[in-house]
Amino acid sequence: MTSTSTRTVYVTATSLDGFIATEEHSLDWLLSRRLDDDSPWSHDRFMAGVGSLVMGRSTFDWIERHRAQSGDPWFYEQPTFVLTHRELVAPEGADVRATCADVTEVHRELVEAADGADVWVVGGGGVAADVAAAGLLDEVVVSIAPVTLGSGAPLLDGPLELELLDSGVNGEMLCARYAVRRP
Ligand SMILES: NC(=O)c1ccc[n+]([C@@H]2O[C@H](COP(=O)([O-])OP(=O)(O)OC[C@H]3O[C@@H](n4cnc5c(N)ncnc54)[C@H](OP(=O)(O)O)[C@@H]3O)[C@@H](O)[C@H]2O)c1
Repeated sequence: MTSTSTRTVYVTATSLDGFIATEEHSLDWLLSRRLDDDSPWSHDRFMAGVGSLVMGRSTFDWIERHRAQSGDPWFYEQPTFVLTHRELVAPEGADVRATCADVTEVHRELVEAADGADVWVVGGGGVAADVAAAGLLDEVVVSIAPVTLGSGAPLLDGPLELELLDSGVNGEMLCARYAVRRP
């Protein structure tokens, strides 16, 4: 565990063949799925326990493209760290912090910002793999959509040994929660 109460959790939706977006960064295959708001695996229920977030630049850019089309406000109230080597304009009123610091340092800041709640590793798969390689990832939670994509952004860019803790269903999605096994 990363602290007595904070867990660092990679939570994502994936295709059955292990991609979290198409090559073109499309999530149409995911956004069309039927979900159950009352499921124990619902996004709202998970978000209630999240104190801070970390995501890569492509994920941030996807959210900003989506917001530009939909007019939605920034999605998250919690401090959000965006890993990037490039300048970033934070959405108005949002606590968005761009960083290219070492993953261990970023994680220290994430745990501090989470204030006892959980750290959500949003993705992509490279960020999740970096956190895991630093020995800082506690859990992986996947919602598997009934679709294969053939190619795209990988679920996790590295080897990880996992232990199944729980499983269930959210609408069309098959869900699983795993503990990360440490050597
Ligand atoms: N299915 C889902 O639930 C789900 C969840 C999350 C994301 N997604 C989607 O999956 C796709 C993921 O894209 P992706 O594979 O390109 O991953 P990503 O992690 O979103 O973005 C990768 C980029 O982040 C920056 N970055 C990553 N690690 C860094 C570090 N340690 N220091 C500094 N910068 C760092 C780099 O950008 P620069 O060097 O160019 O700044 C890198 O090219 C996106 O389309 C996203 O929307 C889907």
